[in-house]
Amino acid sequence: MKKILLITIAFSFFLFSYGQNAKNKNLIKQDFKYADAQLKNMLKETKDIGLRFPRTINKSGKLATTNMYDWTSGFFPGSLWLCYDQTKEETLKTAAIEWTEKLAPLQYYTGNHDLGFMMYCSYGNGLKATANSAYRDILIQSAKSLCTRYNPIVGCIKSWNQFPSWHGNKTYYFPVIIDNMMNLELLFYASKTTGDTSFRHIAISHAVHTMDNQIRKNYSSFHVVCYDSTTGQVIGRETAQGLSDNSTWSRGQAWGIYGFTMCYRETKDERFLKTAEGMADYYLDNKNLPKDKVPYWDMNAGQSGYEPGVKSHANGITIKYRDASAAAIAASAFFELSTYSSNNSKKYYQAAVQILKSLSSPAYRAPLGTNGDFMIMHCVGSLAHGSEVDVPLVYADYYFLEALTRFNRLLEGKPVVGE
Ligand code: GLY
Repeated sequence: MKKILLITIAFSFFLFSYGQNAKNKNLIKQDFKYADAQLKNMLKETKDIGLRFPRTINKSGKLATTNMYDWTSGFFPGSLWLCYDQTKEETLKTAAIEWTEKLAPLQYYTGNHDLGFMMYCSYGNGLKATANSAYRDILIQSAKSLCTRYNPIVGCIKSWNQFPSWHGNKTYYFPVIIDNMMNLELLFYASKTTGDTSFRHIAISHAVHTMDNQIRKNYSSFHVVCYDSTTGQVIGRETAQGLSDNSTWSRGQAWGIYGFTMCYRETKDERFLKTAEGMADYYLDNKNLPKDKVPYWDMNAGQSGYEPGVKSHANGITIKYRDASAAAIAASAFFELSTYSSNNSKKYYQAAVQILKSLSSPAYRAPLGTNGDFMIMHCVGSLAHGSEVDVPLVYADYYFLEALTRFNRLLEGKPVVGE
């Protein structure tokens, strides 16, 4: 009798898991089918756009674009590559090549720290898909350009050339933003492919300084840490895109979770894993996190004790806008983190799945042919600057597709990050 009961339980569990797996595979399939159609709509819309790159929509709902030097230029080509990887649609591959190769001049660009985003999301995904050795050379040159912004006294890569405080009293000339963790993946790649460890040393130094100076004891994060470039001293901890200096800007927290997880992958340094897990727990255990796990634009939105600087456009804003871009980035990071964490693997995996389900629902995924041909709705670019509030953003789509790709790889028993 007992044996029959055990067999019945085991069989029911098998059926349940099998059913879950089929449902998850179907969610991924449907999302990529949708992505394929929406990306093709965007390709039609951008046919004669030349050297402009899709970013969001303007107040009249029309496509808003940037030039190639903006930090978001690599995401549209990156999304084309990610979708091509799943669907093998030749139209997407042809377009991905065309859009990626428009960015070739950036390999020599040294004007900001965003080359990792711009080049690794475009050429990096292109290299994985095609093994085109010219892409490898371009990535190496891009890594060299990024390293020109490294200051050995500070031990970090300079993010922006200057940062005027929202308090209106000073301008900083060596700001480092938490987002910069994302650009280090390009440097780890350059070291692996060339054997030149200097790229890697710069990446590790930057990550260690960020861990020490930018992450609070409770694993929340400062958005901007400003250094004195001649002494290496920290001279300011403020926010540029968050609610206040002492708050935690949601997308910044997501960049940190992703960045430290990636640094652990590349170094196996336990300090990076501990930081990634601490930051992930701050996000997931936060009482101010809505049930669907898509955060408000700032983790502290609506709470008392968080005062914007006098010049910030966040003053007087009481609507707690969601930032679905932060959720998409976090979901992608949680999938990878779940494969390294000993104690909380299930927690991170389930959170990533829940976020993907939220983003795939009509609450966030736009009907086909709407939303300026972007996929995800309800993102915030920078409320503090009064710009891109409750809109689609090209990087939300990119990380949504990356998270789906990672989910699929895990379901197929492959390493979460492809070579
Ligand atoms: N890296 C800029 C942003 O996340 O808005």
